[in-house]
Amino acid sequence: MSILIKNGYVVTASEDFTADIYIEGEKIVAIGKDLTYKAEKIIDATGKLVFPGGIDPHVHLDMPFMGTSSSDDYETGTGAALHGGTTMVIDFILQTQGDTLYNALHAWQKRSAKAIGDYSYHMAVTDFNDKVAKEVVDMIEKEGINSFKTFMAYKGALMIDDGQMVNLMKVVKEHGGMVTVHATNGDMIDALIAKHRKEGKLSPLYHYLSQPEVTEAEASARFADMLHYTGCTGYIVHMTCEGALNAVRRATLRNQKVYVETCSQYLMIDASLYDKGFESAKWVMSPPLREKKDQVALWNGINQGLIQTVGTDHCPFMWEQKKMGEHDFSKIPNGHPAIEHRMEFLFSEGVNKGKISLSKYVEVTSTNAAKIFGMYPNKGTLAIGADADVVIFNPIKKHTISVKTHHMRVDYSAYEGLEVTGKCETVLLRGKVAVENDKLVLQKGNGKFIKRGKIKEVI
Ligand code: URP
Ligand code: ZN
Ligand code: ZN
Repeated sequence: MSILIKNGYVVTASEDFTADIYIEGEKIVAIGKDLTYKAEKIIDATGKLVFPGGIDPHVHLDMPFMGTSSSDDYETGTGAALHGGTTMVIDFILQTQGDTLYNALHAWQKRSAKAIGDYSYHMAVTDFNDKVAKEVVDMIEKEGINSFKTFMAYKGALMIDDGQMVNLMKVVKEHGGMVTVHATNGDMIDALIAKHRKEGKLSPLYHYLSQPEVTEAEASARFADMLHYTGCTGYIVHMTCEGALNAVRRATLRNQKVYVETCSQYLMIDASLYDKGFESAKWVMSPPLREKKDQVALWNGINQGLIQTVGTDHCPFMWEQKKMGEHDFSKIPNGHPAIEHRMEFLFSEGVNKGKISLSKYVEVTSTNAAKIFGMYPNKGTLAIGADADVVIFNPIKKHTISVKTHHMRVDYSAYEGLEVTGKCETVLLRGKVAVENDKLVLQKGNGKFIKRGKIKEVI
């Protein structure tokens, strides 16, 4: 298949210009003015922006969690992602405590066989010992999985202690990988949950009040210190607040680089949503939504280069699943749906409102994730030889977010009625049309596992 995209405004992380793009097979072959290639399909992109396909570095598809499983699987989740211009996701494999990393990898390989879009995995190490250390090396050297997720919370299921963390960092550093972290102080949070339950404070509001900013700021600083001590490269996922960002800012004073991801929800919506009785369960996620001053800090952090990526932490649950915690907030499955909306939200709220430039937009939605996680320049940019993952974007088209029109497998929208400006109109995945005229064209099984190279400090 060959495709010629005519007259689009091409945007990469470093430049933007009007040009044509010629694609043959899976790859971009030429970028330039007035290209004359004879293509099987011509797309007129006049008046449109042309971006590299989005990479969401943080999703949970079909993940067993809190006694249930997230409701989007690899087919519906990557399909919804493609509708929203995200051509690749990085999901999390969860090691079961007491079991091996390879058993977990095999379980996730079965789940992901039906992916429509491209994907990779972070490996969550929830139980570290000498045997697991050897598997960590194999993940990097043989499996192309170079990022190891850790949890400083969710004790008894996912959390590792600081000793395990430091020992993991030493092995990962030696073999060219990266440690990523859910950085919140699990013991403090568990004590606050227990206190609130004892006092009969059981509504979703107390999920929020059990995870104050200090729990995230403290753990982020501790994680940065452990990285500094071991020399390991690290990445903090789903950062929400000023205090945690300041911990990273302090680390830069000793010339340390700690990569940071925030998520679209922490930039878009705030903790006032916890005032709606049980409806607030829609926004029960960890860490919780924060304050307006934190949103200001996060946007500034993006522009200051302290935050490199914006993911979603997409972890949807049907309303019936959320109701598991109707009488006790600590039983509400944590997570919310957003995989479909990240690119459009960031454009509408960020670029359109003048908070970030077009090139910063491409950096945080695609290029930086490709660089940090060892996929650049094959993914994350529009360049000759790169995978033809392309979004043709109408920057002025307004539309309204609703459960009636979204494609995620979840029976509510956390953004019902929100009007956004900008729409992903045509999406290409490795040279194939994936989405056109609001229709998903690709079938399940089309998604490819992307093996990743060793981590180099790149940004
Ligand atoms: O609430 C969340 N974030 N659910 C998914 C698991 C995690 O902590 O990322
Ligand atoms: Zn997390
Ligand atoms: Zn997550």
